[in-house]
Amino acid sequence: MHRRRQQLRAKIIATGSYVPERVMSNFDLEKIIDTSDEWIRERTGIRERRIAHEKEAASDLAYEAAKSALKRADIKAGDLDLIIVATVTGDMSLPATACLVQEKLGIKKAAAFDVNAACSGFLYGLSIADSFIKSGAYKRILLVGAEVLSRITDWEDRTTCVLLGDGAGAVILEAADDDRGIMSTRLMSDGSLWDLLHVPGGGSRHPASKETVKKKMHYLKMKGNETFKIAVRALENLVVETLKENKLKLSQLSLLIPHQANLRIIQATSERLGISMDRVFVNIEKYGNTSAASIPIALDEAVRQGRIRDGDYILLEAFGGGLTWASALIKW
Ligand code: UT7
Repeated sequence: MHRRRQQLRAKIIATGSYVPERVMSNFDLEKIIDTSDEWIRERTGIRERRIAHEKEAASDLAYEAAKSALKRADIKAGDLDLIIVATVTGDMSLPATACLVQEKLGIKKAAAFDVNAACSGFLYGLSIADSFIKSGAYKRILLVGAEVLSRITDWEDRTTCVLLGDGAGAVILEAADDDRGIMSTRLMSDGSLWDLLHVPGGGSRHPASKETVKKKMHYLKMKGNETFKIAVRALENLVVETLKENKLKLSQLSLLIPHQANLRIIQATSERLGISMDRVFVNIEKYGNTSAASIPIALDEAVRQGRIRDGDYILLEAFGGGLTWASALIKW
């Protein structure tokens, strides 16, 4: 444990991401279920998604994203104090995928654990990392969002399978003394709405059995339409509250990076807020919804495309199973 210091900020010093090689287009989906490229594009904005190789699990994707972030940070894995992985599709239910990433990185000293907050998982992880750094408990943290959603996808359910994809994104956070870094995070949840988005089988409520598999209980179930409406309202409030808390105007925001669940959710939220789409980052057309991986992949792409400059205010926001929703305001 390190000594508490005043005004310590958690700063993202590098980002990285990894998506599996295999591309599955809407046209590929047309061949296996009753859907069309036109419907998927118009209702979701998605054109294609990545699907992990059968030998790839969440820790493999997470490891690749982590390596890329470590390289860009120009630090060694051994310099990390803590590894957090946000995922709902970990390699196994035990141990934590973060421990498997630690093994792959070949380090022993760091602590490691997973966070399960579905699509908001990366931002929940960011909030935890921020608190640890501010408290002085840890100096350098690897946070990864990694998902292999294709493994919990019912490929016969057209209402969900067209939406989901696989991938991973990572950030390295470091304690910094200047005024840049994470300004605030906001975490919200409403457990009474858990059944809008869930995987019923395989846990202690309905342990895996022939029966649960036969009933397809190991697959993700979503009431899409209800979730959609709640998401738009919740995300609008979240952004307004986050800006208010930081005494910022919407016009001071350089970039909004939303969770990529549906282009129509992103557009509706932006419209309600009054922010033009050129200040909103969108890459859903390439990857679909990758849950906890969506924001860190988008953040990495935004950085690589030069869309974020030093001193910019950027706002990250997500919504997903739990229900959970969360935001983070960063001065880059
Ligand atoms: O990750 C965070 C949480 N997730 C979300 O935030 C996702 C939120 N929900 C959504 O993105 C949207 O609700 C969906 C994309 C899932 C669905 O779009 P929608 O506009 O809400 O469609 P709907 O569920 O109201 O369905 C409209 C019609 C239905 O047909 P009928 O009943 O009108 O004849 C569906 O059966 O579209 C049909 N449909 C499809 N048609 C072709 C549903 N899925 C498909 C499909 N292809 N893949």
